[in-house]
Amino acid sequence: MRRPLMIAAVLVVGLGACAPAGDGGSAASTTRSEGATAGAADRVADYDAGAVPGGPGKGARFGLGRAASVAQVSLMDHDIGPEGAELPAGRGTGREGAALYAVQCAACHGPKGEGIAPLFPQLIGREPAAEDFRFATDPKLPHTIGNYWPYATTVFDYIKRAMPLTAPGSLTDAQVYALTAFLLSENGVIADSMILDAASLRQVRMPYRDRFVPDDRKGTLIVK
Ligand code: HEC
Repeated sequence: MRRPLMIAAVLVVGLGACAPAGDGGSAASTTRSEGATAGAADRVADYDAGAVPGGPGKGARFGLGRAASVAQVSLMDHDIGPEGAELPAGRGTGREGAALYAVQCAACHGPKGEGIAPLFPQLIGREPAAEDFRFATDPKLPHTIGNYWPYATTVFDYIKRAMPLTAPGSLTDAQVYALTAFLLSENGVIADSMILDAASLRQVRMPYRDRFVPDDRKGTLIVK
């Protein structure tokens, strides 16, 4: 639950100032509470906010959102799996990544990647007390890319798809390689002189790779 809640909080903070807080928003929240106080659960199930007077129109529900454009979808329509077969061309170094990090990432993740609690996770740091997955029993110990992530390729995938939070998809592939190199070297996973590209990134083995197992549970409450 923690992650979705965090995202929701960030979106509210980030978008609150420019969200269309006018008629659409207030009409939706007023009618929703009327619907809720009106009572029975079956009526709530049939409830169509778009059908109320002043609402956006029958079937239009809350009248929020718009269809994603092809260009917007294509910014996220790529998957780089653990083997890294889909990694794109390009290359970058930790030094280049450090400069980018300062401009694009430090405001949220801290100048040294130490994170800003409670919303922005720590990215850098190998707290000795937390090694060996001890944050699993003591959540106060930080888990970071170095002491937690199973694959280096998915660090690239995550940054390319999701960061910076306010403009996902805005980084070039070379910039993502550079930022990945910076984060991996600062976490003591690769040498800081290493040039990261598709071939070299595929070779990187994360320290705690073997602590992860495939989740092949089949719909029952098996604890692995
Ligand atoms: C506006 C704030 C913001 C900016 C700027 C930002 N991030 Fe993030 N980042 C977040 C938040 C919030 C999360 C947690 C998202 C979640 O847990 O779902 C996150 C998560 C991450 C993670 C995953 C951490 C983990 O271990 O789960 C990585 C890696 C990351 N960011 C890298 C970057 C990089 C690289 C940049 C710069 C290009 C960047 N971020 C810029 C807010 C930001």
